[in-house]
Amino acid sequence: MLQTVVTLAYLVAASLFILGLKRLASPRTARAGNRMAAVGMLVGVVAALVSERILNPAELAVGLLVGSAIGVLLARRTALTEMPELVAAFNGFGGAASALVAGAEAVRLASLGRPLDAVSAVVVGLSVLIGGVTLTGSFLAVAKLRGSVQSTGFRGLRVVSVAVGLATLAALGLIAAAGSATASLPALIALAALALVLGVLLVLPIGGADMPVVVALLNAYSGLAAAATGFVLANYALVVSGALVGASGLILTRIMCEAMNRSLASVLLGGFGAQAAGPTASGDAADRPPVRSTTPDDVALMMAYGARVVIVPGYGLAVAQAQHEVRELAEMLQREGVEVSYAIHPVAGRMPGHMNVLLAEANVPYDQLIEMDEINPEMGQVDVALVVGANDVVNPGAREDPESPIYGMPIVDVDHAGQVVVLKRSMRPGYAGIENPLFFKPNTQMLFGDAKESIKAIVGELKSLQPA
Ligand code: TAP
Repeated sequence: MLQTVVTLAYLVAASLFILGLKRLASPRTARAGNRMAAVGMLVGVVAALVSERILNPAELAVGLLVGSAIGVLLARRTALTEMPELVAAFNGFGGAASALVAGAEAVRLASLGRPLDAVSAVVVGLSVLIGGVTLTGSFLAVAKLRGSVQSTGFRGLRVVSVAVGLATLAALGLIAAAGSATASLPALIALAALALVLGVLLVLPIGGADMPVVVALLNAYSGLAAAATGFVLANYALVVSGALVGASGLILTRIMCEAMNRSLASVLLGGFGAQAAGPTASGDAADRPPVRSTTPDDVALMMAYGARVVIVPGYGLAVAQAQHEVRELAEMLQREGVEVSYAIHPVAGRMPGHMNVLLAEANVPYDQLIEMDEINPEMGQVDVALVVGANDVVNPGAREDPESPIYGMPIVDVDHAGQVVVLKRSMRPGYAGIENPLFFKPNTQMLFGDAKESIKAIVGELKSLQPA
């Protein structure tokens, strides 16, 4: 009877994960989807603990309370810009949990003197390997995202990585050939140690700015480790949830690489984004036309007299935390009869959906957010493109300059608009570390300063234009 209830609970949990994931596809349903998946996780965890009689109800309640309190505290204290770090830390803990559970199962089988067939042994080994790599790789990613580790390695790093990789394969082979759980333990311990080192070696060469892609990949790894552990324990709720995390992490990694026009190999081999590159071959600085700077008053007038304004947010919007001011500006213009929409580039900012989340926080209606592919054909009819802290995602060099490191990356074609106003603090480059020819185009004007302050000033000017 208990087993049937537990099996049903696993089925409910797996269904909630799938339905929750489906709902994450739209900002409108994402919150509900998140809650659904969280309930699925709760059902799965309680079912596992009850079925194995691991905890009594009182211990279960205490565990739930402590876990929920930590979750609430983390969620409240984490700024939106720190989200990739939090996700990376979660991945690390997930990998560690999978490795520990698989290792504990091997120790349990050893204490019972059980034989271990080659397939089960390899699955245990893979759990420990992937979980170990995910643990140290994720925490190194956290340190790199915070900027506390900037090193991209040392001479001979690749040789050491290959040597450690070969040693892990050898340890896996020994585990498979051991024949019994007891005999496999020494190789399993060696594998765990090698996996921890490998996680560091794999993430070390990758530049800090590429960490979001690495975090998505490590997310996939943590899912694969969980799925492998699910096989070890014959727990199919874990297999399903691990497979979902693994597959979605891999798909997300692919989407991010495509939107940045980078191959996964080029991200993993490191270099890009680690340090600022020089200007591209698109021209000598001396040949450049001068940059035209403008004032909030002029920008306010230009937009108030335009019929259509498109706001293009980027990473600088997150840094300046200007989302509420941007919404206020858009609403003022809309009241004056100007059509305002937001152009969303898939990798604007530093994490997937960064701009959607920021604008949703400021209650910008979803129907005003338009994907890059949809808005680009209409950019020619836009009077003013207001670029708020975006740089690489509006760099026409990606379209026009075959020598540019981001050549081929899809961009929002703001330069096709009648007028372009770029809000940023200086002429410094963005994430890719390259110069942006947009700033020198005849229809571009720069409004230098913190985006929040600049928008406040534009809003102030618009207010003063309104009849008393
Ligand atoms: P970036 O190219 O990084 O440019 C951001 C610009 O914001 C900077 O040039 C900076 O110029 C400006 N800025 C910073 N703080 C500001 C402030 N307080 N006020 C006004 N401006 C400010 O950003 P993007 O255009 O959003 O492009 C994203 C880049 O990140 C792409 O290259 C993408 O491939 C990469 N990337 C994205 C992701 C995801 S998933 N989104 C993941 C990894 C990498 P100043 O310093 O002059 O102000």
